[in-house]
Amino acid sequence: MDDRAKAAKALDARFGPTTVPWADHGVVDPALAARGVVRKFKPEPVAPNLLRTLCAAALCAPSKSDVQARDIIVVEDQALQAKIKALLTAGPLAQAWAADMPSLLVFCGNNRRQRLWHEWHGIPFANDHLDAFFNAAVEAGIVLSAFVIAAERAGLGTCPISAIRNHSTAISELLGLPQHVFPVAGLGVGWPAETPRVSFRLPLEVTVHTDRYSEVGLRENIAAYDARRQASQPFRNQKYVEDFGASPAYSWSQDKARQYGKPERANFGAFIRRKGFNLE
Ligand SMILES: Cc1cc2nc3c(=O)[nH]c(=O)nc-3n(C[C@H](O)[C@H](O)[C@H](O)COP(=O)(O)O)c2cc1C
Repeated sequence: MDDRAKAAKALDARFGPTTVPWADHGVVDPALAARGVVRKFKPEPVAPNLLRTLCAAALCAPSKSDVQARDIIVVEDQALQAKIKALLTAGPLAQAWAADMPSLLVFCGNNRRQRLWHEWHGIPFANDHLDAFFNAAVEAGIVLSAFVIAAERAGLGTCPISAIRNHSTAISELLGLPQHVFPVAGLGVGWPAETPRVSFRLPLEVTVHTDRYSEVGLRENIAAYDARRQASQPFRNQKYVEDFGASPAYSWSQDKARQYGKPERANFGAFIRRKGFNLE
């Protein structure tokens, strides 16, 4: 099978049947189309200069107004890594897999440098509002995504870790994050010891709009997606059965509703405000 056919097959598998054929000029890297997170790694470490090179690749991603409001912290110190792993693998939302990830990076939003330039140049910072936080968070997300794609291309496996924000204050102290610098997500990195599965995505009819936002057919499309997932990638466990009961027709949308039917990181806004951000 050539690369075009491989990419089309992976896109079909991920997005389901579509009425519009995929472009056939090989624009999609088949490995990207079939990518997935990896949570099982070989024990070998990832060479520091490879991680550093991938950081450079990730930081080639676009940056809003060229402000470059994002940083990557590569956690090399094994004692420090162990402390962060201890946080991630404890408690009700424990990420057991994180215990064995060989490398850990933390992607941060950084609005501190911007504020320093105002001090250095004697120009008041006239944008102390939500945008300062939002831009830095978005930029960190863009670089996280670029790192994932670059790392997968190098044959590495990765899994982002928003669970790092369940411990924002502790992580911030461990990593020495100053005011206006905040963690967005961690990233476990290593040589894969499993082949990632192609996790289904919502059909493009739901997530790609032409000219105007549309919810035409939304419920039917979500129901079809729920059914497609349950048929091929059923959830092994139902969330919060003690609160919401055991469902005979458990589905992806129900799983997401259950997840956000319980408070999660409700203190994150307070943490961000303590970091000096005005969220108005
Ligand atoms: C910002 C972000 C945070 C994530 N946080 C976690 C996490 O804390 N723990 C985890 O196991 N997976 C985490 N993931 C991985 C997602 O669960 C995964 O990407 C999603 O299920 C889709 O699977 P795929 O990437 O293999 O297609 C995160 C992904 C992203 C993009």
